[in-house]
Amino acid sequence: MGCQMNKAESTGLARHLASMGLESVKDIKEADIVILNTCVVRQNAEDKVDGMLGYLKGIKHAKPEMRIAVTGCFVTDDLRALNKSFPHINHFFKPGESHSFDDWLLSESIGSLHGSLEKLPLSSSSLSVYIPIIQGCNNYCSYCIVPYRRGRERSRAPEDIVEEAERAVEEGAREIILLGQNVNSYGKDLVNGTGLGGLLTLLNHIEGLLRIRFLTNHPKDMSLDLIKSVASLDKVCHHFCVPLQAGDDLILKAMHRQYTCNDYRSLIRQIRQMIPDIALSTDIIVGFPGESEDQFENTFKVVEELRFDAVHIAAYSTRSQTYASEHFPDDVLSEVKMQRLRRLEGLQKEILTEINQQLVGQRMEILVEGKKGDKWFGRTFSDKLVFFTGSRNYAGQLVSIHIESASPWSLQGASFI
Ligand code: SAH
Ligand code: SF4
Ligand code: F3S
Repeated sequence: MGCQMNKAESTGLARHLASMGLESVKDIKEADIVILNTCVVRQNAEDKVDGMLGYLKGIKHAKPEMRIAVTGCFVTDDLRALNKSFPHINHFFKPGESHSFDDWLLSESIGSLHGSLEKLPLSSSSLSVYIPIIQGCNNYCSYCIVPYRRGRERSRAPEDIVEEAERAVEEGAREIILLGQNVNSYGKDLVNGTGLGGLLTLLNHIEGLLRIRFLTNHPKDMSLDLIKSVASLDKVCHHFCVPLQAGDDLILKAMHRQYTCNDYRSLIRQIRQMIPDIALSTDIIVGFPGESEDQFENTFKVVEELRFDAVHIAAYSTRSQTYASEHFPDDVLSEVKMQRLRRLEGLQKEILTEINQQLVGQRMEILVEGKKGDKWFGRTFSDKLVFFTGSRNYAGQLVSIHIESASPWSLQGASFI
């Protein structure tokens, strides 16, 4: 469950269990060991975790020898309380807590990881591979549970990241996606460490690697140097994920985002000046406590003005432990939240229709990921999804495509060869 970070960690765990000789099964009821990797970013995500824990209780009742471990952001520091509430779970461990997981594997005579989870080979044989570069978050945005569950920022050593990327490329990867809650903090906690720009420069040298992406950026921490690095490195894609969250200064302040709407505007202006073909995606929360109709209108206007290539919109959800949950009542009605969410989605659909329409007739380079039905698909340097027809096997190749038509969510075209 959850974000790319969780997917990367799940892949790592699965690969390690496979390296110990364990096989995956299609039907969960046949499994000897189940590891549930959880997300609690909003209440609906937590509801899914609760549902899954209940489901596993039933399965374990029918097969008592099944061993179940739970990790991810559901896991709090209070392991005693968790063990008491969920006696059918054999082991809880916090995200990335290798020692605890390793000890459990040994105690259950399953095997040993032979090393730390931070060094797990996260690469898979797929074309595009996630590589976590920094764990945790120090920002404490007032609505967000992540810092409470993933702890403080910890950067991985650059040499470990480069080694993992090289291994992924040897195994067939052509694209790497560097992950962190705030990748702009990368390296700040390392002695003599390099920052994100330096790391990108190291990775850009890897032979056989075609593309590098990274997410998520925090607007207050994106430096001019980083933007310059991206502009100068040929493999680093022209796509930034820069969450705005709200377009109203009072709401931004209450969210503890540490920038104003004008700071954000000037950052975007600077990025677009230095990298004119940059694609930008953002995250927005609607219905934050106290958000008035006028304050929502301010957010609406900024989204209208800045014309993003993707906007991920979420309705505010109270998370326990957070500053907002303890100080601000969740006073925007859920119907109003949904109304605002749908208005923003409608606006973004119109904007994307226009942006994508302008690409019709252009020639774009696609890294081909695979085939869906009779159409090949892949992404442009700026992360646009493209479907195209063509008669060869294009998987894993860079192919030049003539864009023939566009919808808000994808482009369609044909290959030149
Ligand atoms: N580190 C990233 C994203 C972390 S969580 C950042 O700084 O933006 C992913 C997204 O979930 C956030 O961008 C936010 O839009 C959303 N989110 C986080 N907590 C939320 C909450 N309590 N209610 C609604 N949306 C939330
Ligand atoms: Fe959460 Fe803010 Fe950290 Fe993102 S930067 S993970 S929203 S606290
Ligand atoms: Fe969810 Fe944790 Fe990721 S709460 S979004 S799994 S960081």
